Amino acid sequence: MFKTSAFGLLAGLTLSGGAALAAGNAAEGEKIALQGDGVGAPCVACHGPDGAGVDEAGFPRLPGLPAEYIAKQIRDYKSGARNNPIMQANLSSLSEQQIVDVAAYYAGMPTPVMPVKSVPEQTLALGEKLVTQGDWSRHLPACESCHGPGSAGVDASFPGIAGQHATYIRQQLEAWRQGVRANDPLDIMSAVAERLTEAEIDAVAAYLAAQPVKPSQGGAQ
Ligand code: HEC
Ligand code: HEC
Repeated sequence: MFKTSAFGLLAGLTLSGGAALAAGNAAEGEKIALQGDGVGAPCVACHGPDGAGVDEAGFPRLPGLPAEYIAKQIRDYKSGARNNPIMQANLSSLSEQQIVDVAAYYAGMPTPVMPVKSVPEQTLALGEKLVTQGDWSRHLPACESCHGPGSAGVDASFPGIAGQHATYIRQQLEAWRQGVRANDPLDIMSAVAERLTEAEIDAVAAYLAAQPVKPSQGGAQ
């Protein structure tokens, strides 16, 4: 269909730009997650022992994301391409090997059970419409045209966003709108985010958070 083919092209473009990932050692990654690297705080201090994160604090769930996506985000925080002072402070001492190790650890963990929140039906319905159909009168593609059926993610370039915390999703969409996060290959997320109103951002975040977590389809080792 039209939607799929239009963004299938983008998928091909972003994929060909990805660098090959060195093999990560999940056991070494676990040490960093639990104890830290001696400089930054241990990952579990914020992301939790099961990697589920904390909604209110804006700490994302990590298991279920592909290893390559996790490693790319850590590199982007380190270089400043993705701008977040908390993550920069805790990750900038990691070496390339430590980055792939900790990414392998989180990508290999079972997906945690996420808290269920009650959300008004109307909000969920608006969120569902935008996520599954978009609004072509405003050139707003369906989130699923890139993030895949069920927003479960497609390879390492398009992360799964189903079952992610609402606060985190909201903060990311705001960050793209404001140009604070500008690290995806073609800057496509800012084009999506700037077309959404505040109410629509709330609705897609609430709808996605209410969906079951789906482990990444490929990308993870
Ligand atoms: C002090 C709290 C804290 C610590 C410690 C911490 N994180 Fe985070 N992490 C966050 C916050 C807050 C965000 C969201 C930042 C943003 O909005 O970009 C985040 C985001 C991330 C992301 C991006 C996820 C995504 O879906 O794009 C990854 C990957 C990540 N952290 C990995 C780690 C790893 C690995 C460690 C340990 C080496 C770690 N974090 C330690 C708070 C923390
Ligand atoms: C044209 C393709 C495309 C469309 C359409 C799209 N996204 Fe994305 N999205 C991406 C890409 C690529 C990334 C990864 C960015 C990166 O590498 O940092 C992403 C990342 C995200 C993330 C960050 C996930 C994380 O773990 O940090 C969120 C949240 C998100 N998108 C939400 C949405 C929502 C909500 C919609 C629909 C309103 C949407 N996206 C539509 C391509 C798209």
